[in-house]
Amino acid sequence: MVEKYVYGTPFETDAVVVPTDCKNGHPPIGKTDIENGYTWTYTMSDNDIVYGLGEANRGINKRGYIYISNCTDESNHTEDICSLYTAHNFIIISGEQHWGLFFDYPSVISFDIGYSRQDLLTVHCDSSDLNVYIINGKNAYDVVLQFRKIIGQSYIPPKFAFGFGQSRNGYATEDELRQVLKGYRKNHIPLDMIFMDIDYMENFKDFTVNSESFPDFEAFVNEMREQKIHLIPIIDAGVKIEKGYDVYEEGVAGDYFCKREDNSIFAATVWPGRTHFPDFLNRNAREWFGKQYKKLLDIGIDGFWNDMNEPAIFHSDEGLGEVKQFLREYLDDTTDQFTTYHLFAHIGTLRNNPKDYTRFFHNVDGQRIRHDKVHNLYGYNMTRAASEAFERIVPSQRILMFSRSSYIGMHRYGGIWTGDNKSWWSHLLLNIKMMPSLNMCGFLYIGADLGGFGANTTRDLLLRWLAFGVFTPLMRNHTTRGTRAQECYAFEHPEDFKDIISVRYRLLPYIYSEYMKAALNNDLYFKPLGFLYPDDDIARSTEDQLIIGNEIMITPVYTQNVPGRIVYLPEDMLLVKFSGKSTIFTQQFFAGHHYIYIGLNEVVLFIRKGHCIPVAMPAETVGNVDSSTLTLFGYNGASYDLYEDDGISKNYEYSQKYLRRLSKTEQY
Ligand code: GLC
Repeated sequence: MVEKYVYGTPFETDAVVVPTDCKNGHPPIGKTDIENGYTWTYTMSDNDIVYGLGEANRGINKRGYIYISNCTDESNHTEDICSLYTAHNFIIISGEQHWGLFFDYPSVISFDIGYSRQDLLTVHCDSSDLNVYIINGKNAYDVVLQFRKIIGQSYIPPKFAFGFGQSRNGYATEDELRQVLKGYRKNHIPLDMIFMDIDYMENFKDFTVNSESFPDFEAFVNEMREQKIHLIPIIDAGVKIEKGYDVYEEGVAGDYFCKREDNSIFAATVWPGRTHFPDFLNRNAREWFGKQYKKLLDIGIDGFWNDMNEPAIFHSDEGLGEVKQFLREYLDDTTDQFTTYHLFAHIGTLRNNPKDYTRFFHNVDGQRIRHDKVHNLYGYNMTRAASEAFERIVPSQRILMFSRSSYIGMHRYGGIWTGDNKSWWSHLLLNIKMMPSLNMCGFLYIGADLGGFGANTTRDLLLRWLAFGVFTPLMRNHTTRGTRAQECYAFEHPEDFKDIISVRYRLLPYIYSEYMKAALNNDLYFKPLGFLYPDDDIARSTEDQLIIGNEIMITPVYTQNVPGRIVYLPEDMLLVKFSGKSTIFTQQFFAGHHYIYIGLNEVVLFIRKGHCIPVAMPAETVGNVDSSTLTLFGYNGASYDLYEDDGISKNYEYSQKYLRRLSKTEQY
């Protein structure tokens, strides 16, 4: 049962799409206080688990820390970081009773989940204008399914987007991209996508292509397509200020940029230098920005990633002015009142300064709204602008789209990647733990930068990370400038990389089926073990193993220099091990703890009792996966409903038309 409580005059975020009955008073659980802003408190029992919060730091169980929804360009995801790129304000309290709470509030909101006092959960925001949705359910899983229904169907990408992709901040020319493809094909490592970071543009200007490095971009897109590669360019939120640049000129003429209080256009510096920010909360601006994607769609591009849309600000004109003023005082100072500490503290305030978010305004249906009041909706609406435009420009085609910043509601328009992680083992574990929480908030097409974005990766970290990435809907290797080569063929024994990535393609019929079932039925692709084994205390607290669909449990290795790991089986299961050279081993295991050996070139999964999964022959592209010759692995007598469609049109539905029942008759 879902109930809605309306406080004050909330800003309409469009996160919830199914009308919900409004209740008077306050929710039946916890204590609500609307005296000083909005505060909701709840005393947690020892046994309560708190799930949710989507892309947030730390564990699947969010207890024991404080999380702040305040979309931030934060590239140093250490354990103490409270805000990442997104705002996913949905939590589930699961113990004796099971409650879901969605705080539909577009500005900064904090979730103190046992940080200030171990048993106290406090949700607070400075204004008491918000919608609060309360869901009561049979168990945590049931609560999530009810929530997913009211926020609408998750985004469905084209099937090629389930292939493997290579990316690097720094690929700048056609030839570099050709070399990447050559490296993959020569080593027979599967590849479907190459991502184009900001260097493909002319001076980092959105919707331009550098004509020196890409003299005939359309021909290059076709050349790549002939080799079964989709090029996926990045689009940034900020539009470069440059006379004669059409997007800038049109934006100014159409009044599509965010303004300062005095009505001048707000300017801040990001990758292209000084930029203006499109007013994505304004429907006309959304329509105008969305149209720009046509330039690339028209020449055969069929996927994009939207970036820097928190929005990230290196510095605003005002911020720089303030620092310059301080520098003058610092240099002229004769009284010794300033130390270098003061100097660095001032310079440090330039980037992503909260003050900057109070310096510009949106025009929402004629109403002027200061950005900080709706900050967490910016990336969401950038991606919505793109997706609504795709609907108009190529209505019957699926376009790949994922974003860095997001709010619940954006899951209908695109996926997300989890931003600038590091080549750290701890970030591989963080990646594992984030996935089910994101699914709870509606985000299904998700993945992290495999191998790590910042810092130098190592061969073993990349292999282990890819072995987990085999199961994430977005499977992309991405890194930043200045790091060592991170392409799979850049390391010794590239055949090990081939073995790992090939497993993705062997499992593609299963992964795609499970993704489509989750999207079409508002269900989860990744589940914490506690959702399926709620009465098993060990399963409830296991966070480094995940359930996918209904059939399998995955147990990724996330520590260095180990030959395997301890695995907990809540019930009897069948181990399936994909070893080098296309060999597949199976072994029956009883419930309980086991040490499982997993080599660097191996992928392991466990099939739940009574289930089976289809496995295809290895292939180097999504288009070459042959679903007519599948082998079923699993328990005798089990059956599996394979979902298949054309993978590109929007003719998809959960019906017999697209489902094929496969039954396992022989022993595994
Ligand atoms: C941001 C993105 C990263 C990208 C870089 C350059 O840091 O998160 O993925 O490579 O910008 O565009």
